[in-house]
Amino acid sequence: MKEFNTLDDFNFENKTVLLRVDINCPLARGTLELEDDNRIRQIIPTVRELLDKGAKVAIIAHQGRPGDWDFSPLDKHAEHLSKYLGKQVRYVDDILGETASNEIRGLTPGNAILLRNVRELPYELEKKSMDEHAKCELVTALSPLADYYVNDAFAAAHRSQCSLVGFPKMLPSAVGRLMEKELTALQSVFDDPAHPSVFILGGAKFGDSIKVIERVLKNGTADWVILVGLSANAFLTARGVKLGEPSTKILEGELTPETLEAAKKLFKERGDRILLPFDVAVEINGQRRDMMVGDLPIDVPIFDIGKFSAAKFAKVLSPARTIFMSGPAGLIEKEQFALGTRELMNAMVHSKAFTLIGGGHTVGAAERFGLAEKFSYVSTAGGALETFILGKPLPAVEALKTCHCQEQAAKK
Ligand code: 3PG
Ligand code: MG
Repeated sequence: MKEFNTLDDFNFENKTVLLRVDINCPLARGTLELEDDNRIRQIIPTVRELLDKGAKVAIIAHQGRPGDWDFSPLDKHAEHLSKYLGKQVRYVDDILGETASNEIRGLTPGNAILLRNVRELPYELEKKSMDEHAKCELVTALSPLADYYVNDAFAAAHRSQCSLVGFPKMLPSAVGRLMEKELTALQSVFDDPAHPSVFILGGAKFGDSIKVIERVLKNGTADWVILVGLSANAFLTARGVKLGEPSTKILEGELTPETLEAAKKLFKERGDRILLPFDVAVEINGQRRDMMVGDLPIDVPIFDIGKFSAAKFAKVLSPARTIFMSGPAGLIEKEQFALGTRELMNAMVHSKAFTLIGGGHTVGAAERFGLAEKFSYVSTAGGALETFILGKPLPAVEALKTCHCQEQAAKK
């Protein structure tokens, strides 16, 4: 049985759709211009399909969080949306007041509006259960104006927030095309990967990395785990390597007695499947200097994996059939320390594997190297992806699974 509906399951002609998307974008400080509108481009297929099918679409979205400098209105987002859609998406500076209600009622088939930043509502971010969120004013005010709720906000699916989990109790609901694509891509990596399957994990969260490695090696999802970046440094420490004070300081907070113990245990059980760098790169007098792990400690921070490790890892990747990468191998902002990440990504795109990357920094690196188009799948998500790979449920997806409105929908 299908777990949730998709856009194929409903007839949208002349129907009003509340469409939740994640177009939370990096903004330029000061001007608040959108610096990267990839998330907007990625939801265009869903909006276009709904409009082509004759739906009247009210889009719900957020930008930033109250109190943060990038918490901003969505008028610029509407401009970008209109540009990619080739059709005006009007910005409505209201969410559930009279203006918004009138605008939603006044929609005609094939037209869309974008409502005001939903995080203006104080209860949007409150920690509440799905049932409690279903009773909030946003849901009770907007549901009677709509026929369907579509959630395409995969990048926010790890948040149990009102606009993400409250509607499926009230309206026939479906996933949008982006959410569907993201879930399908992740399932092909996590549920039934072609082998050999290699996971490359960087990132700073040592405790989380341990859980992910345990999970993917124990259930056979990955044949190899390659550790890079800060995760590698933490694991090297757990293996007894003295990195040097600056590198150890960067890891502070993550290196607790519990995580160190868990890492040691993991190495004992699965060490033959975990690949760690055996050389690293540091900065000396503004220059990159590669050195063997055996020659550590050093009193400057480690900024990248070494070139020999990068070459060795590339060899491991070449015969792979599935490769997942989350977290860069080094300090990619500095060109000389982007080497490790670049080599790994080059090896990925030249392999025959299904390749999936995710996380803001990783995707940013791929874009900078001009490689983003060459991966099989580039996820729009950061936190939601982390939640997924840890094997935790995504509340927005869970909410769609509880939608008991199919029968109601069939009658429409
Ligand atoms: C994101 O960019 O991480 C999502 O849009 C969710 O936003 P949040 O991290 O502020 O909840
Ligand atoms: Mg976030």
